[in-house]
This record gives sequence, structure tokens and C-alpha cells, in this order.
Amino acid sequence: MVADPNTYSFDTRAIHAGQEPDPETGSVIVPIHQTSTFAQDGVGALRRGYEYGRTGNPTRTAMEQALAALEDARHAQAFASGMAASDAVLRGVLRPGDHLVLGDDAYGGTFRLIDKVLADWGVDYTVVPMARLDEVRAAIRPETKLVWCETPTNPLLGISDIAALAELAHGSDAQLVVDNTFATPYLQRPLALGADVVVHSTTKYLGGHSDVVGGAAVTNSDTMAEQLFFLRNSTGASPGPFDSWLTLRGMKTLSVRMERHCDNAEEVVTALRSHPKVTSVYYPGEPEHDGHELAAKQMHRFGGMVSFTHADGEQAALDVAARTHLFTLAESLGGIESLIEHPGRMTHASVAGSRLQVPDNLVRLSVGIENATDLIADLRQALE
Ligand SMILES: Cc1ncc(COP(=O)(O)O)c(C=O)c1O
Repeated sequence: MVADPNTYSFDTRAIHAGQEPDPETGSVIVPIHQTSTFAQDGVGALRRGYEYGRTGNPTRTAMEQALAALEDARHAQAFASGMAASDAVLRGVLRPGDHLVLGDDAYGGTFRLIDKVLADWGVDYTVVPMARLDEVRAAIRPETKLVWCETPTNPLLGISDIAALAELAHGSDAQLVVDNTFATPYLQRPLALGADVVVHSTTKYLGGHSDVVGGAAVTNSDTMAEQLFFLRNSTGASPGPFDSWLTLRGMKTLSVRMERHCDNAEEVVTALRSHPKVTSVYYPGEPEHDGHELAAKQMHRFGGMVSFTHADGEQAALDVAARTHLFTLAESLGGIESLIEHPGRMTHASVAGSRLQVPDNLVRLSVGIENATDLIADLRQALE
């Protein structure tokens, strides 16, 4: 590709940014550089800057360049998982005595990392509903260094105002981190709205095929990028070449997949809304959803995640999750195949008893890209 990839539209960047044909062989697809180390032409004379696989790998670099291009960012650092990326951001910024503000509907694993690991290292936190800016403002203290926001949230699909949160955080010398896993850069670009760092579980929509675990942190700050690079290299939280390659391959079709995820989710929501056994449907595309207007402003569309509550309580919700055929009962989300889960017993078991506890009659769907009519029929028979 001749021009700067960043001048192209999103779909084109997804396929070309960081992915020039291999200069030596012409390989159109970025090779999987399955190696742990790199030959040096003399002590310290590195070819293209690579020395050791934990520190850097060309396949990983290609994936990082593509992701940075999709988020319109200067830097993206890939990690071995979403949690490894979150850990690096948290430890990159926070020191003992520091404080962070966290949403009351955050991913359970993020809460566990903060509550069970960072708290022991002297980091304090306050949990607030991120959509309530007055509560966020009240929770920020002089020691607050980070505001951690997920939007849409997992599993209740809450929406927070990224631009307003960035203003609040920056007014107190804190940084805003946005976990953009649910939206992906195709639907939402938090850095453009003022966020300092975006984190991803690339395991989800970016990889998109449920065949790889990975994470990434994306930023425009050179200092933050250097810190993340240092931490990843120091702790060894680097993704392998094949995992980086799978993620890169998934990212190429992100826009096509996201459009279909959104189409299917909208149809599933329409079907659920009129079902007598469904009490509430959580989807930001719904005009009645608390965050709908905001979502329409800061997102391109509303995503493929849908949650709902069952009229007959927890056991009935568990039964639905056990009875679907096309929706596979499994943790995770964002793959081409539809998944169903019970957050209270599965992904969010770690928040039981905390302010982040989720309703016990809640079912979460990751709506895949199968035929929408088939998906709806599957849900209907499971709800009977
Ligand atoms: C919103 C969100 N952030 C972060 C993570 C953690 O990512 P990983 O499982 O890749 O470590 C998850 C995992 O489900 C998630 O849903």
C-alpha cells in the first residue's frame, strides 16, 4: 500500500495497516514469526529492532499497528490476555497510597484484580455508578489517579459519558481508562472522546472467532506507551506469535462482523421484548434504555451483547441457559457463534456480595452472526 494507511477508511485500515506484503518473499499475509529469538549481525546490531520474543516479534508488531490504526492512536501494545493488559495499565499508573474510581458494573475479573490483588499493594478504590457523574465527581479525591470505565458495561450494558468522564478525571489530574471490549473501535473510539488509555480483551470481538485469548492497551501518550512496554517486557505478559496472528486475522473482518452482530442483536431484542417470560431487556439500542441517547451520540451502533431477566427467577434463567442449542452455554463473548451464560454463577461469580453483584435471574447473550431467525427460534424454544 503506497499511502499512509491512516488516511484510509476504517475497513481499509483493518486489512492493510501494519500489513504490507513481506518485503523479502512477497507473502501477502503477515507471516507467523514463530521464533523465540532473533539473529544479530554483531553484538547489539539488531535487524529491524528485534532481539528476543518476549520483548518484540514482527507478527505482534503488525497486529499492534493495525489495532492502533483502528483506534486512531499512536500506540497499541498487545498482551497475553485482556487481564494482563488491564494489570499493566493499573500498575503502570498506580502506586501504594493511590486511589481509583471504578464502575459498579465492571467486568468481574477487573474488579477481582483491583479488590484482591491491587488492594493488598496499598491501592484504594471506590465503586460508583459511572453513568452518575455527580457520584463520580464526589468519589474523586486528591489521591485519585485513575477513573476506570467500561461502556457498554458487562453484563448490564450500562452506558457512561466518556467525554464528561475525561473532563472530570483531567480536572483532578487523574487519567481515564476505557475498557472498549464490548464496543470495539468500529463502534466507539474513546481516545477521540478524551480517554487516555483504551484497554481491550482482544479475545472477544477483535479476535472474533473464539480461538485465541489476548489483550491490548492503546494510547496516544508516549510516556504511557513506554511504561506499558517496560511492564510487559518485565513481567512477561507478551502474547505469542500465533496468537498475535490469529488476532490480526480476526481484526481484518471486524467491520463486517460488527454490522451483522448489531443486526442480529436488534432482531433478538425485538423478539425478547415481547416474550411473556422476559421482564427486562438490557440493550443500549432500545429507546427506553437509560443510556440510549448517549450511546447514539458516542457509538456508531449498539453492539452484539444483550442481557435479559427471566420472570420466574434464578432457576428459570439457569434452565434457559441450559436449553439452547445454537447459543452455546459458555463464558466469553464476541465470537461469530452465539453464546449464552448466567453471569451470577459464571462470569460475575467473583462480584457476589459486592456492590457489583448482578441480578440472579439475569441471562447474557453474545449474539453471533448466524441467521437471526434461527437464533430467535432457539431462544423461544428455550424460554417455553
Ligand atoms: C469487558 C471485559 N474486559 C476485560 C476482560 C478480560 O479479558 P481476558 O479474558 O482476555 O483476560 C473481559 C473478559 O471477559 C471482559 O469482558
